[in-house]
Amino acid sequence: MLLAPNQENLQRAAAEIEKGQLVIFPTETVYGLGGNALDDKSVASIFEKKGRPQFNPLIIHVLGTEQASLYAQWDERAEKLAHHFWPGPLTLILKRKMDCPISRLASAGLDSIALRVPAHPVAREFLQACSLPLAGPSANRSGLLSPTSANHAEHEFPDLPILDGGHCHIGLESTVLSLLSPQAALLRFGAISASDISQILGEEVADGTHDKDIRSPGQLLRHYATIKPMRINVREVEKDEALLAFGAGPYPVPPFLNLSSKEDLTEAASNLFAMLHEMDDHPSVKKIAVMPIPYEGLGMAINDRLARSAYVAEDERHT
Ligand code: TXA
Ligand code: MG
Repeated sequence: MLLAPNQENLQRAAAEIEKGQLVIFPTETVYGLGGNALDDKSVASIFEKKGRPQFNPLIIHVLGTEQASLYAQWDERAEKLAHHFWPGPLTLILKRKMDCPISRLASAGLDSIALRVPAHPVAREFLQACSLPLAGPSANRSGLLSPTSANHAEHEFPDLPILDGGHCHIGLESTVLSLLSPQAALLRFGAISASDISQILGEEVADGTHDKDIRSPGQLLRHYATIKPMRINVREVEKDEALLAFGAGPYPVPPFLNLSSKEDLTEAASNLFAMLHEMDDHPSVKKIAVMPIPYEGLGMAINDRLARSAYVAEDERHT
């Protein structure tokens, strides 16, 4: 459903976001599939809509530096780049603050966060109307082209509200730059080039675009491991194991936590990272045993994530 970006529609769309619904919004690069970045359930429904078999970390859209520095460990390099390129098509990967309230699922369980300040006037008005950070991957189904007009987006997601901001004038996703190591590394090419960036930083930028591990953090094993040993597809619980359940039972032992007693895969996805962290941090849990999750819909991404964590060998944990 296309919406002209007038005040009334912006307020209506913002109200949808507050209710946990998704809204497609224009940016200067491509259209984004937006949801409340503070809410695991909204973020889970973004993954569900995209139909990705894996949880890729999402870009968080904010209004400016002040908001960005609430969520990420801000430093001099980030300040310089933000000052020069924001608002605009540059996404910065930074370390999440300890108390960062952004959904863990939006970061796909990583301790880093991708932040971007869009320049498109409708994106900015929408962020203002929402007063919330928006998680927003490109508004296309997994594997398809990113939409650069409201009509493309409508073709992909006819049932969602779409703020019509016309044609995206850049038409290519934002440049993604990681500031996690001492040398800044380019992870995705975009309108802002490595040399634009190194001019501002006064130092060389590494090319991380060929490094599969950096480029696809969602596929990296070690990012996804719990500290405690984990078994999956568990039907019989061993002593020392705490149960992470799924479904209404019967359970082999009383569950420590339940991803979804209603067998709702979107709910399970929204609980996944928060519950794994809770079990990892809880002193009475020695090992984690996870009940079988169906291999369908979001269950594919949940199983992918769990299998990676379970796979990590004993000597790789704690690193
Ligand atoms: O232009 C854009 O950036 C558009 C508009 C809507 O803002 N958004 C977009 O989002 O392209 P998406 O989700 O399709 O791409 C996000 C990119 C992916 O390549 C992802 O791997 C990377 O950002 N990314 C996100 N968080 C990351 C993190 N913590 N570490 C490394 N890469 C990350
Ligand atoms: Mg994309």
